Amino acid sequence: MIVVCSGPYGLEEAMKTLKNGGSAIDAVEAGCRAVESDLRDTGVGLGGAPNILGVVELDAQIMDGKTLNAGMVGCVSGYEHPISIARCVMEKLLHVFLVGKGAERFASEMGFEKTELLTDSMREIWLKRLCEEIGVADPAALEAHPELWRMSKWATDPYKMGTVNYLVQDANGDICSGVSTSGWGWKYPGRLGDSPVLGAGGYADNRYGAAACTGAGEMAIRVGSARSVVVYMKMGLGIEQAVREALRDLNDLHDQRIGGVNVLALDKDGNHLVGNSGDSPPSHWYMTPDMTEPAQKVGICEPYKKG
Ligand code: GLY
Repeated sequence: MIVVCSGPYGLEEAMKTLKNGGSAIDAVEAGCRAVESDLRDTGVGLGGAPNILGVVELDAQIMDGKTLNAGMVGCVSGYEHPISIARCVMEKLLHVFLVGKGAERFASEMGFEKTELLTDSMREIWLKRLCEEIGVADPAALEAHPELWRMSKWATDPYKMGTVNYLVQDANGDICSGVSTSGWGWKYPGRLGDSPVLGAGGYADNRYGAAACTGAGEMAIRVGSARSVVVYMKMGLGIEQAVREALRDLNDLHDQRIGGVNVLALDKDGNHLVGNSGDSPPSHWYMTPDMTEPAQKVGICEPYKKG
């Protein structure tokens, strides 16, 4: 049994779920839910960064590596736990992906409670960026702005982006992946990154392993990073080579290089690693049943070579 996460929060909850006999899916949901409720993480769930209009729009996906079934939701406002809505999509519907109003309606039908996701402190950060740094005189007037796309492009700050990835293997050897995020702060309304897109932001297959991404989702979508790692493992590469190949694919994107991507992977034997498509090795956190607290592990990087 192992729990692997892109960040330091929620691993105890995920491991407790496994120790109590829960499945990898249960543990991924528990870990993501803990982060979605944790105000220390301002890129996921409650307290996440809003879009240009000040609305927090959440994205999530979950994938069962045993059945290859999956559930995804995008642009969900007013619900704290998109990971649980994604799980309901996977388990209750013939569809795998719901967005916007339809996803919110489905969340309500599933009994999820409505919540205001924009915290006072995040509202202040949103306003400061708009008014002091971008020079917007009246944020309320943005709703009717004829060129909102320009405002969003100026205001979008790649550093106001956070995502949580969970990769879990349970006592049966079953693997599950989960991803949850509020996406880029000040993004254009309706923008989806890689996090809710299966194969880009996350993927799991019991036979080989799982992978998930954080960072510039537009890039991970273009090369299908998470599924690439799993396919590279299927083709016989070890976990490090598989991650390096996926990072090289990202580095082959010479146009619109909007930021780095971290690719987190877990293989079917429980090995785990994170890599970055830039020049600073990232870290991830993990927990096994014998550990009383999560440990941090430094990963690898594949620096981008221009030209
Ligand atoms: N990787 C998160 C996002 O691009 O929204």
